[in-house]
Amino acid sequence: MREFSLIPDRVQEGLSDWLDVDAQQLSARLNEWVARPLALGVAGARSGLFLAESIPLLALQRVLGGGYQVSKPPPADAREAVLREVRALAQRDAEHFARGLYPVSLLAPTSSARQHVTRYLRLLADSVRVAARKRARKPREFRGEATRLAEELPDYYRRNFHFQTDGYLSEASADLYEHQVEILFRGLADAMRRSVIPPLKAHFDNSRGRGLRFLELGAGCGTASRFVAHAFPDANITCLDLSHPYLNTARRRLADCSRVAFLQGDATDLDLRDERFDAVYSVFLFHELPLAQRRRALAEARRVLKPGGIHVLVDSLQEGDVPALDWALEEFPREFHEPYFRNYVRTPLEALIADAGFESPQTSTHFLSKTVVATR
Ligand SMILES: C[S@@+](CC[C@H](N)C(=O)[O-])C[C@H]1O[C@@H](n2cnc3c(N)ncnc32)[C@H](O)[C@@H]1O
Repeated sequence: MREFSLIPDRVQEGLSDWLDVDAQQLSARLNEWVARPLALGVAGARSGLFLAESIPLLALQRVLGGGYQVSKPPPADAREAVLREVRALAQRDAEHFARGLYPVSLLAPTSSARQHVTRYLRLLADSVRVAARKRARKPREFRGEATRLAEELPDYYRRNFHFQTDGYLSEASADLYEHQVEILFRGLADAMRRSVIPPLKAHFDNSRGRGLRFLELGAGCGTASRFVAHAFPDANITCLDLSHPYLNTARRRLADCSRVAFLQGDATDLDLRDERFDAVYSVFLFHELPLAQRRRALAEARRVLKPGGIHVLVDSLQEGDVPALDWALEEFPREFHEPYFRNYVRTPLEALIADAGFESPQTSTHFLSKTVVATR
């Protein structure tokens, strides 16, 4: 039987006896027929939904004066380039579902329609505070418990990234964060996050992860590790983040993943022993670190990896990765508070990774993200 398939094993076994065909081949075919169109359908529906949700949000920002004017119009071929990259990402993700690299169950919504709508309304309400912060250019504004938590954390981190209320330092912020990210990426953020899995599957020979230890740096609300935990059900995964409230949210959301542990800590100064992990990965962490911290996080990732271990980084595209999308990288930090983004896009990750002593980094691009894979 295949690692992950849509049709229950008993049904597949019955069918293969009845049709007198090899059970494994039948399972692969069935999964391919069903998973690919399903994944493409879900990607289309999500894009439509989050695109629709972006419209009132943008309109509200404009009325409230927190909106922004594009510095220069996008190039003539921008629309075509975006559509091409979106299609490529959706098709690659569907292909991975069809090949059984990760289970189709990951396509199921994680919140009910009612929860989704309630959260969206909260997001609209919060956009009033976000707009005020943008207008006032006040990216260091914390309330209550978030103020106390911020005091214990590094200075570069004590900010309202994306101008979001409480920065990364409250459960209210954690509740809205991923929804906001999906609106920004028009429903494709999860597909980009999943690009962390194929290099891990290739490195570990398509295994279920028995005996392996993985570490995620900057795990946030834990979605990437939820995907990895379903793709590697026997691996032990540690989700590390500086934010207590985001980790609490992750702990709740991953309650069904028994082999996942949560650790509050700093990716640039890990309280973990040398050569402990078989894989270290991060998703959308590095563009939020100043250059010195990016270098320190890479050195720490290398230190805690076993020799021959794999490091997978998913993060924003950088300049020149997909030249037709360079304009989007210029606009992004103007609208969202992303103080280290300009330096990030101009400092190739591959060079930093090689400087940190990793072997031959390999890059692939996935719409507005890139995935860099290197071994120790
Ligand atoms: C843009 S969010 C990405 C979250 C998540 N990985 C995702 O896929 O959406 C960046 C995350 O990195 C965390 N972070 C930032 N600096 C960190 C550091 N030095 N050590 C650990 N986590 C850090 C933040 O708290 C936040 O949760």
